[in-house]
Amino acid sequence: MSLHKIIVVGCGDMANIWLDYVQQRKNAKIVALVDLNEGAAIRKKEQRNLEVPVYTDLKTAILQTQATLVFDVTIPAAHKTVVSTALTNGCDVFGEKPMAENIQDAEELIKIAEATGQTYTVMQNRRYLKQIRQLHHLVQNGKIGDIKELHADFFLGPHFGGFREQMESPLIIDMAIHTFDQARFIAGCNPSSVYCYEFNPKGSWYDGNASAICIYEMENGSVFSYRGSWCAEGFPTSWESEWRVIGTKGTAKWDGFNTPSSEIVAEVSSGEFIKTTKQMSNDFQWQGREGHFGCLDEMFAGLEENRRAETDCHDNINSMKMVFAALESAKTGKKVEII
Ligand SMILES: NC(=O)c1ccc[n+]([C@@H]2O[C@H](COP(=O)([O-])OP(=O)(O)OC[C@H]3O[C@@H](n4cnc5c(N)ncnc54)[C@H](O)[C@@H]3O)[C@@H](O)[C@H]2O)c1
Repeated sequence: MSLHKIIVVGCGDMANIWLDYVQQRKNAKIVALVDLNEGAAIRKKEQRNLEVPVYTDLKTAILQTQATLVFDVTIPAAHKTVVSTALTNGCDVFGEKPMAENIQDAEELIKIAEATGQTYTVMQNRRYLKQIRQLHHLVQNGKIGDIKELHADFFLGPHFGGFREQMESPLIIDMAIHTFDQARFIAGCNPSSVYCYEFNPKGSWYDGNASAICIYEMENGSVFSYRGSWCAEGFPTSWESEWRVIGTKGTAKWDGFNTPSSEIVAEVSSGEFIKTTKQMSNDFQWQGREGHFGCLDEMFAGLEENRRAETDCHDNINSMKMVFAALESAKTGKKVEII
């Protein structure tokens, strides 16, 4: 197995998980740290006891270390520059979400990946959880029939302070991409349109819109509704959202914490006003690792097996489209087609 020579770009908090992962992977090695802020890179090198050079310029770092892979763990505004520099200098890229700050930049990155023959894969750690894999299995194996509706509720009241409280659309831009990506994963298809109403509720401690309601039409004919707020105190949902998926035979539910469950109409129930249902057993056990480690396992597997990983940029652009189409709908007050 060949050795992955990795540069980590962006030495903030999130970089720690990515560095932890490399530490336990046999065929991967950090060859440099890069940060615009040299002090941040030096601090990270010292904290992590890494014997590697630090740089403020990614291109120089790639040329001097012969790196093969770049981890982009910078802020969203830097992703386009970091990813394009890495791809055009012969590296594959695994990067934090979101791909870019807007859809045009994200699409340009796909073109650069195609032109250079390198790969760009995006972190979507919230797909890599035992329970969401169980729900996905349940829905995709026809246990509740064909999917008619998916509903996700996300209600939390975090007081982050900092940049999120100054953003125009903190919920949709910074958080909902996870839920939207989960919806595509559970439904097994992409959306075709969205209507979104975004607002900042009374008493909000955010400057921008901390709440939103979105209705997506999905390509398989189902409808996905999202009700979300980052300004909702009391009865918090899970960060994974609370899910209900309705099919032609019955319903699957996941509270975002525990094992998903499902109920389908019992065969004996014909002619009843409300038909009798029966609980289905759910014995599927996903064997992968969870969170960032699970997603990174798949990213490396894709690279080593010479195939697109599950969260390759060609797929992840569809989650980006859900975010930016929702914002456009909220601004125009109209339903937006997603192409
Ligand atoms: N997947 C998740 O669950 C999850 C959770 C939190 C954050 N994130 C994502 O992780 C990324 C990083 O978040 P963070 O909290 O570590 O941010 P951070 O602000 O703590 O760190 C970012 C670092 O990047 C550096 N940087 C900025 N622009 C750069 C550039 N052009 N070149 C090199 N370095 C540059 C900054 O100096 C800083 O040290 C973001 O994209 C964020 O959305 C993902």
